[in-house]
Amino acid sequence: MTAIQGQSRADSRTAKAQSRTSSAANWSPTSWRSRPALQMPVYPDAAALANAEARLRRYPPLVFAGEARKLKASLAKIASGEAFLLQGGDCAESFADFTANNIRDTFRVLLQMAVVLTYGAGMPVVKLGRIAGQFAKPRSSNVEKIGDVELPSYRGDNVNGIEFTAAARLPDPERMVQAYNQSAATLNLLRAFAQGGYADLHEVNRWNLDFVRSSPASARYEDLAARLDETLNFMAACGLNSATTPQIAETDFFTSHEALLLPYEEALTRVDSTSGDWYDCSAHMLWIGDRTRQPDGAHVEFLRGVRNPIGFKAGPTLPTDDLLRLIDTLNPSNEAGRIVIIARMGADKVADKLPALVRTLKREGRTVVWSCDPMHGNTVTASNGRKTRPFDAILREVKEFFAVHRAEGTHPGGVHFEMTGQEVTECIGGSTEITVDNLNERYETLVDPRLNASQALELAFLLAEQLKAERLSVARARPAI
Ligand code: PEP
Ligand code: CO
Repeated sequence: MTAIQGQSRADSRTAKAQSRTSSAANWSPTSWRSRPALQMPVYPDAAALANAEARLRRYPPLVFAGEARKLKASLAKIASGEAFLLQGGDCAESFADFTANNIRDTFRVLLQMAVVLTYGAGMPVVKLGRIAGQFAKPRSSNVEKIGDVELPSYRGDNVNGIEFTAAARLPDPERMVQAYNQSAATLNLLRAFAQGGYADLHEVNRWNLDFVRSSPASARYEDLAARLDETLNFMAACGLNSATTPQIAETDFFTSHEALLLPYEEALTRVDSTSGDWYDCSAHMLWIGDRTRQPDGAHVEFLRGVRNPIGFKAGPTLPTDDLLRLIDTLNPSNEAGRIVIIARMGADKVADKLPALVRTLKREGRTVVWSCDPMHGNTVTASNGRKTRPFDAILREVKEFFAVHRAEGTHPGGVHFEMTGQEVTECIGGSTEITVDNLNERYETLVDPRLNASQALELAFLLAEQLKAERLSVARARPAI
């Protein structure tokens, strides 16, 4: 069979699947194009854009519909209070920092955090990376001004370049193809790490990164790893080991990013031949940012028609009626595991703003996962002009989030962090005591300040204490039999 024949058979299979697709009413992968689309680049060369989109449409999917369904099933467990979500990774992935070590270090800090949280929560932790596609960035201003020079803002490596020159800031559609290729290679490595032995629980000790060894969180981690080793020895004596029990040897690791750059998302949207449904195959889970969640906007229109699990950010300006409209539009059948609401209120506003939202959905019987992004509402400008986030404010927002859910009788389902496996100096505070004076030492993020590896691990331990307290309070509230 020639490649051409193979292609035409694949095309006819797709056509058959499309004819029995059960898509949302009046939806198609292009229907977003008739809605107002905020934060979208204007490409100067329409032919070059069409060419890049056409190539992307032919490229293989990055993830499979069955994997997205598996994640949805795990999220459904979270919605019913039986699991916890850990979502994290770079604010923006970078073409320049694309290395195996970077990917490995992010992956292993997430694994370390997941082990710590699993211990605290006594429940499964769903691992979801902000990785393998997290390139496009919404910006508060369309332009950036330095001195007398004004240029278009940087919008992420899949749109334009960060260098402050007119040429770099011009949106270039070829960058979408490069982002696709980088995502494919990243995902390939992540799959190998997750399934190929690296994530085996017997390796827990070795995940401790060299540069965090001196931090207090690292000492706590080594102590936990020793306890886990003992548990594994006990289990092995009972006949449960990596060979007999695959859950010990490998893990599920899912990917996610903000579905901001809609031409890219549209090009990777395909019909699943098993179910006949549309999936955005650029990642397992996609979310809508706080700036593009208008109920009538293009981003909501696009995501309502794909069957992946999806999220949206809920900032302090989200009214309860918009929240309900969003849920009605994005999840009309109230499917469990479909919606993750990522609250990003700011530490000072959670107690005021979150309860009404939680109460509304509880009253209306809507099944969702509530997750807490304690990063985006706590960004401040330091005295030296650097954007930073205080560790204390991040922790306080998480604690307030837990307190609201305890008061409302709902499950604090998860957390969403901007973090890296590198020992950068972007957020201040934490037990390694990064101060404003340290910010210039390793300030490497393209847009927002991230937790470094030690801070992320420390936060996981503090979070585990919250989860343990929640577990005990749920157990106490359960009537004795
Ligand atoms: C982000 O997650 O990087 C982001 C831009 O968040 P938000 O939409 O909450 O501002
Ligand atoms: Co960000």
